Amino acid sequence: MIDQVRSHFGFSKMPFGKDLSPSALHRHEGHREAVARITFLVAEQAIGVVTGEVGSGKTVAARAAVAELEASRHTLVYLPNPAVGARGLYAEIVTHLGGEPRFHKAALIAQATELLGKESAERGRRVLLVVDEAHLLDPGQLEELRLLTNAELDSKSPFALLLLGQPALRARLRLGSFAALDQRVQLRYAIPPMSPEETASYVGHHVKLAGRSDTLFSDDALARVHQAGRGLPRAVNNLARQALVAAFANRSAIVDEKAARQAISETDGE
Ligand SMILES: Nc1ncnc2c1ncn2[C@@H]1O[C@H](COP(=O)(O)OP(=O)(O)OP(=O)(O)O)[C@@H](O)[C@H]1O
Ligand SMILES: [Mg+2]
Repeated sequence: MIDQVRSHFGFSKMPFGKDLSPSALHRHEGHREAVARITFLVAEQAIGVVTGEVGSGKTVAARAAVAELEASRHTLVYLPNPAVGARGLYAEIVTHLGGEPRFHKAALIAQATELLGKESAERGRRVLLVVDEAHLLDPGQLEELRLLTNAELDSKSPFALLLLGQPALRARLRLGSFAALDQRVQLRYAIPPMSPEETASYVGHHVKLAGRSDTLFSDDALARVHQAGRGLPRAVNNLARQALVAAFANRSAIVDEKAARQAISETDGE
């Protein structure tokens, strides 16, 4: 089926996939701003919180920023999911930095701090610790992060820390018990959804990457996809892909409003 859709529209590959290389990403404002801020955060060894709705492009922005860093001068510790079990974030960090996590917690904390310090002191590398899905961090883990960033007695954090999460993360950090960490956050950014114009340009970008540079989605189809997808890249991808399938089933050469409407009712809720 997908193969038929692909050849119906003359695509070199099916558009709206998620396997884009950093250089092929669409540079709408929310994306550019997020990347610029993350780059700044690394340079400043700061603590930052980047939030956004599900599928707004948080992980993609972090990966794009990391791709631009000089690899020999940076160490990335990326924790895709904070649900790392009882041994906690310290063990993850130690493992990522090539250590064998010590058993007792106090020793483990010292070990994580030491390894983080070594990366910069001995190897001249800046460390970026990215905690994705950070809205899932439990209070104990937030406290662990605070202790780590505090290692040098309130002077600069020994690494850059980026928390990525859903909008609820911001509110959670504001709760009294996390005030100590929240006060150290130097950078906050909420990735906005794409504007209607950006969604149109985004869809055109994906279509072009698939080998078609002419107009394939009608304006009213784009308006519907934007509205139903709320300008969120992942939702827009899903709807646009579904609209292509509907247009194919209709034997239509373009994705018109009817195909977009069909896609929306089939993708219900997105
Ligand atoms: N700048 C971009 N250019 C092209 N595609 C993008 C861009 N940003 C996001 N996408 C697409 O949107 C999808 C969702 O992005 P991403 O995974 O970064 O969202 P997220 O905010 O991390 O979502 P979640 O809350 O589910 O973790 C990506 O897989 C990619 O296909
Ligand atoms: Mg993500």
